Amino acid sequence: MNIQRLREMKGAGEKIVSLTAYDASFARVLAEAGIEVILVGDSLGMVLHGDANTLAVTMENMVYHTRLVAKAAAGSFVLADMPFLSYSTPPEAVRNAGRLLAEGGAQMVKLEGGGWLCETVQQLTLRGIPVCAHLGLTPQWVNKFGGFRVQGRGQEAAEQILGDARDLETAGAEMLVLECVPAALASRITQGVGMPVIGIGAGPGCDGQVQVIYDLIGVSGRAPRMARNFLRDGGSVQAAVRDYVQAVKSGAFPGPEQCYD
Ligand code: KIV
Repeated sequence: MNIQRLREMKGAGEKIVSLTAYDASFARVLAEAGIEVILVGDSLGMVLHGDANTLAVTMENMVYHTRLVAKAAAGSFVLADMPFLSYSTPPEAVRNAGRLLAEGGAQMVKLEGGGWLCETVQQLTLRGIPVCAHLGLTPQWVNKFGGFRVQGRGQEAAEQILGDARDLETAGAEMLVLECVPAALASRITQGVGMPVIGIGAGPGCDGQVQVIYDLIGVSGRAPRMARNFLRDGGSVQAAVRDYVQAVKSGAFPGPEQCYD
């Protein structure tokens, strides 16, 4: 799997399926089920460490877990999150993103934020580091947002996210994660950019879907509304992941209950 193939899938209207993993065993299950993009998310701060948010996750955590996943991700594309404050300036971003590729084995890094990141995205791209942008509910901004809240409601907020998506693509971003935005806005953004758009709580109009694996198998405590427990019907982790792949590919997931207006 590579970014060219992911772009082809967008062009052909074939849904891209993504799921988080933080270790080799889950990465192997995901790769065997045909998950196209494995995200080593900084959500590990919440689901592995038990923290209330992702802010305490370190570069060492991300390099370590990315390396575990990359070893077993055969055939899947490995995307790694850059943790809070690891990309505050372009030189810092280049140094830290380089570690995720060179030491961790990631194929792309993900950064949370809007137009202010364009210079950073450009500098990373110039050095051969592929970038995925992350807009909407960016969890590293939880204290600014006053909680984990839907973003992009209202004309001005919607235009801001659409403009940021276009600017980040022009700067070099090759993929976009859109989290917790109204489904209609997510469809508009997906049609308005050339890069593949992967949604979580962003409706069925995105080019693909991503979920946190622990929500999917119902072990993360109180799962957010945008999640569905696939283990309940699947009966095993392997079957749950296979059912999720099928549900995304067929358009059955997300349903209206996982979407926002
Ligand atoms: O960290 C993560 O798992 C994420 C997803 C929720 C998109 O960024």
